[in-house]
Amino acid sequence: MPSLKWRSPRRAPLAGGSGVRSRPARRLRMLGAAFDVRSLLMLAAIAWALIYHLTSQAALWSRVLAVPWALAVVALAGLVKVRPGRARYLWLVAACLGLEAWAGWHWIVVSTWATRQAGWELRTRDMGAISGAAVALALLHGADPGAAVVLGGFVLLPGVFARQSRRTADLIDELQETRRELARLAVVEERNRIARDLHDLVGHSLSVVAVKTELARRLVPRDPERAGAELADIDTVVRRALAEVRQAVTNYRQPALAAEVAGAVSAARSAGIACTVSLPDDWHLPVPVEGLLAWTVREGVTNVLRHSRARSCSITVELAPRRAAVEICDDGVGTGDDERPEAAVSGNGLTGLSERASALRGEISVGRRPEGGFRLSVAVPLDPS
Ligand SMILES: Nc1ncnc2c1ncn2[C@@H]1O[C@H](COP(=O)(O)OP(=O)(O)OP(=O)(O)O)[C@@H](O)[C@H]1O
Ligand SMILES: [Mg+2]
Repeated sequence: MPSLKWRSPRRAPLAGGSGVRSRPARRLRMLGAAFDVRSLLMLAAIAWALIYHLTSQAALWSRVLAVPWALAVVALAGLVKVRPGRARYLWLVAACLGLEAWAGWHWIVVSTWATRQAGWELRTRDMGAISGAAVALALLHGADPGAAVVLGGFVLLPGVFARQSRRTADLIDELQETRRELARLAVVEERNRIARDLHDLVGHSLSVVAVKTELARRLVPRDPERAGAELADIDTVVRRALAEVRQAVTNYRQPALAAEVAGAVSAARSAGIACTVSLPDDWHLPVPVEGLLAWTVREGVTNVLRHSRARSCSITVELAPRRAAVEICDDGVGTGDDERPEAAVSGNGLTGLSERASALRGEISVGRRPEGGFRLSVAVPLDPS
């Protein structure tokens, strides 16, 4: 899987280095970045270790040297924050472990923090080497082997967690990029379809009209009868092209299922009817099929609003590998009677829907529900044959 570079959103403007930001503004941003919660925690850890060290029985040279060394760690930490990179992180961890080596095990707090920061950038072998060094240092300071391993783990684990979060962040980034790419491709595909349709519908017809008009113009003085026949042909071609263009425009205007469901839910709720929706997570349906499902939702919910006097309704869309179905149910007055549940169902809306469904070899079912209320459902096959 190609790995994308992940940058924390707060860090990106600093690390990006556009070069157009003015110096004072950059300094201000660096200052702001340096004082977030994690940095303050790091400063607290270093301050604690330093105070502990200065007030300990350690040799004078060790206490004096600890101060500039600790300041160097702080400076390095600031640097990696502004310009992250594997080498800089390795230097930071090495400085912390070095401090721990001669100044005492209590600096392990700082090493742990450094590994946590570095986990974003370091590789598995770096992490292994760091925890190995932490174990060796603990042994050097006289810890028994068990305790040394625990201390090594103490240094390693935050880094491992940080690496894990980075992988998750990379994955999320990649998924979002893929989604954006799919959306872009869908737009390109749709444009190509429109261009193809325009070419096939209008291009061909206009070429025929141009040729026949030229012919008719030449024939008028010599053979008016043939010229009239050519003009009649032109009339037929133009009318056919007009019908095809209308058909194409109708197809482009197919309503989208998601938008139709959202509109229906909002309309039902405004009328005081609770509306529950069950939709698949994702769908890629042929345009006419999605259009049919969307028309069904529109007509079904409009009927619920106009005829049902329901308190609640539901919209359910189900997708199977070879079939898509939508169902709109309500708990209103229903229609017809128990023997002939579809008896009273005849109007333009449902008749039109039934015609749309048959054009796609779909089935429509309407009528009173046994438990009361009304049910409209449309199922349509997904394979075009
Ligand atoms: N949810 C419902 N609850 C009760 N009766 C309904 C429901 N849906 C449809 N009907 C009945 O079915 C009839 C036919 O509905 P249809 O949608 O075909 O026509 P319409 O809504 O009356 O008019 P239009 O042509 O404007 O849609 C309705 O007149 C109504 O009696
Ligand atoms: Mg209706």
